[in-house]
Amino acid sequence: MRNIIISPSLMCADLLDLGREIKALEEAGADYHHIDVMDGVFVPNLQLGTANVAAIRRAASIPLDIHLMITDPENKLGWFDIREGDFVSVHYESTPRPEKALLQIKDKKAKALLAINPETPVSVCERFSGIIDGVLVMTVHPGHAGQKLVSGALEKIGEARKMFNEAVVEVDGNVSYENAKIMKEKGADMLVCGSSSVFNGIYGYKESIKKLKGAK
Ligand code: DX5
Ligand code: ZN
Repeated sequence: MRNIIISPSLMCADLLDLGREIKALEEAGADYHHIDVMDGVFVPNLQLGTANVAAIRRAASIPLDIHLMITDPENKLGWFDIREGDFVSVHYESTPRPEKALLQIKDKKAKALLAINPETPVSVCERFSGIIDGVLVMTVHPGHAGQKLVSGALEKIGEARKMFNEAVVEVDGNVSYENAKIMKEKGADMLVCGSSSVFNGIYGYKESIKKLKGAK
């Protein structure tokens, strides 16, 4: 079983004290900071813009996992301070030319992931197999934290794992402690953890991340 990578979703952190939150998450063992960038067009919400990404970068000492929920990402990637070692996901549904954005991400020596909404079949990822470093399987409709799993989305994790044996299979949405176990069994190796686990206040960050990493 692969080592699970934990990427806490900063939109669920205390945004009034994000510097302290970033440090606390890193001390608790987070592997990446998941940054949900939302434009209010591709998804019905506005969240964490370019200035937020730059500020998070200044405070972070681990790489960023930037989830772009924006239209035409290929024309906007230059707005973000993307660095070597980051993960950057662009949505298949957000542009007629996902490959353009994916190639730009790779030019910056970051990992390029293709994100797919719950209703988008894994099969669409096949034609990008020579470009992508991973797939971001959305298990909720992008745009808001606190949602429940979309039924059938869990099966897509296994399909993505089967299609891309070496690539990263990242899962985003309602990653609870129970769901994390199933997601891992189906082949996920990177979990975006938001209000369903790390930020639900039941355990501290350190214990939450330990539970998620150990989820069997
Ligand atoms: C939703 C975001 C997720 C979300 C995860 O569009 O991409 O990162 O915040 O948080 P929960 O655990 O609340 O689904
Ligand atoms: Zn996300």
